[in-house]
Amino acid sequence: MIIAIDGPAASGKGTLAKRLAAHYGFRHLDTGLIYRAVAKAMLDAGADLTDEVRAAEVARTLDPTGFDDPALKSHTVGEAASVVSAHPQVRAALVEFQQIFAATLPGAVLDGRDIGTVICPDAEVKIFVVAAPEIRAHRRFLEAQSRGEPADEAAILADIIKRDERDRNRSAAPLKQAPDAVLLDNSYLDIEGGVRAAIDIVEAVR
Ligand code: C5P
Repeated sequence: MIIAIDGPAASGKGTLAKRLAAHYGFRHLDTGLIYRAVAKAMLDAGADLTDEVRAAEVARTLDPTGFDDPALKSHTVGEAASVVSAHPQVRAALVEFQQIFAATLPGAVLDGRDIGTVICPDAEVKIFVVAAPEIRAHRRFLEAQSRGEPADEAAILADIIKRDERDRNRSAAPLKQAPDAVLLDNSYLDIEGGVRAAIDIVEAVR
């Protein structure tokens, strides 16, 4: 079984994906980390993020075991990921890896922006997770605070809105709800509430 979870930045889709995978004994892939790894390699090399050919070369030679570097989580890398992920050649280079992962038995949970639309259009379960921008910004702000990092909530909100816009309006695999995806509004649910809602969606098709 394949569970595809898509949604904008900081919607809580990653947490839901992790919890669903644990609940069903499936493997989980946070596909944002793949684009983040490409972006970080480009930044480390001092490369121009708009250089599609170079970014695609990085994507093709990516170490698929190297996604646990905490530096991938940084805000700078997230912003850069949103730029490199808009290149069609970068996306094309990463399709096969994600599809092979999705075929893991007995099942896999993948979260990202285009899992239900492009990577796994035949996934048995598709969930599109949304939450109000202000709520997503507030969650990111609290996360930064808990790590002891200085954070400006208004700046976080502005960044989230900008990133969503870039992800929704790009021509290659834009962020959008698949016609057969179930919408889960995570704005006013706590983690347990969100997990229960997601399990209900999975159970409805099992
Ligand atoms: O989800 P996360 O914030 O880690 O993703 C970073 C960026 O990678 C996103 O803003 C998006 O541009 C890109 N991405 C994507 N397709 C995916 C996952 C992430 O384009 N499946």
